[in-house]
Amino acid sequence: MKSIVIERPGELQVQDRPELTPAAGEVRVKVQYASICGSDVHIWHGHNPFARYPRVIGHEFFGRIDAVGEGVDAARIGQRVAVDPVVSCGHCYPCSIGRPNVCSELQVIGVHRDGGFSEYAVAPAANAYTLPESIPDKLASLVEPFTIAANITAFLKPQPDDVALIFGSGPMGLTAIQVLKGVYKVRKVIVADRLPERLAMAKANGADVVLNNSEIPLAAQLEGEMPTLIIDAACHPAILAEAAALASPAGRIGLLGFSGEACSITQQSLTSKELSLFTSRLNSHRFPEVISWMEQGLIQPEKLVTHYFPLAEIEHAMTLFEKDPRSCCKVILAVE
Ligand code: NAI
Ligand code: MN
Ligand code: ZN
Repeated sequence: MKSIVIERPGELQVQDRPELTPAAGEVRVKVQYASICGSDVHIWHGHNPFARYPRVIGHEFFGRIDAVGEGVDAARIGQRVAVDPVVSCGHCYPCSIGRPNVCSELQVIGVHRDGGFSEYAVAPAANAYTLPESIPDKLASLVEPFTIAANITAFLKPQPDDVALIFGSGPMGLTAIQVLKGVYKVRKVIVADRLPERLAMAKANGADVVLNNSEIPLAAQLEGEMPTLIIDAACHPAILAEAAALASPAGRIGLLGFSGEACSITQQSLTSKELSLFTSRLNSHRFPEVISWMEQGLIQPEKLVTHYFPLAEIEHAMTLFEKDPRSCCKVILAVE
């Protein structure tokens, strides 16, 4: 089988690998579509602290089950599935309270174990979620990125009366806009980015107001309006202090970033407004929820997609994705 392997940091290869056999409790998926995420690029360049090498990358993928391991119902063969990359132990403290995404032995498919930029991938059977026919093959790999927005909004509990502010209009900001508007019916979603092209995508994905903060700070542009719910989907360490300054008293802030740089913020800026701060990593069993949102038409994954490439053009696809945020949002690989 053909697989995209990061042999070591900086070295991306298309390799011919022996076919995979699903272990007990696992399914094998014949992958059909997989989408590129910033973290795939980070693993390629050696900037992902969690990655182990050599690694078949890709954690956003869709295909059909074509073999099952011991103990898995053979009736699953042929099912169309999206695969949750979060593999957890099931018995540690976070697992015991329904938060397998921060399992003490967390393994992420495509990061800690081999992933979906490959003709075949294996995963625990419980991680392979059957999809309704209404979700087309070409869009099914986008369930996973929407689970990030589903996870953070589950903490933030958006209300129709909220005024939301999202920092960043990349794939993460755009999925957040769609979930706030389409699922939670939030009255006003304001989006800030530095790139006009990205702000145009924000508009197309449902933002009510878009603000370019490359020159004029947001505080000046908001004209006194205080967001009640803020999501940092740009993830620069300086944003937390800015968000705390802009937020309404009693507001909530959600953080998605993994920067190792310190950010400086006073207790006063949080406590005087009694702000709630939530962080969110990957997703905790959010696939069924996102699949049902797609089925009901509450979110529109097609609005994120700018490019399709065959798997063999991986290097070109990843380079375009990395270097050209003005024209690229989600780039999807067709594996067959
Ligand atoms: P991206 O790089 O495509 O988008 C970030 C956007 O933020 C860009 O459009 C950029 O122009 C904009 N931006 C940068 N600084 C800004 C600022 N100060 N104000 C406003 N906009 C600003 O990245 P993507 O894929 O959307 O991911 C965003 C972040 O989310 C990344 O840092 C990534 O590590 C993180 N992430 C976190 C996950 C989690 O589970 N916690 C999962 C996936 C991504
Ligand atoms: Mn991703
Ligand atoms: Zn666990």
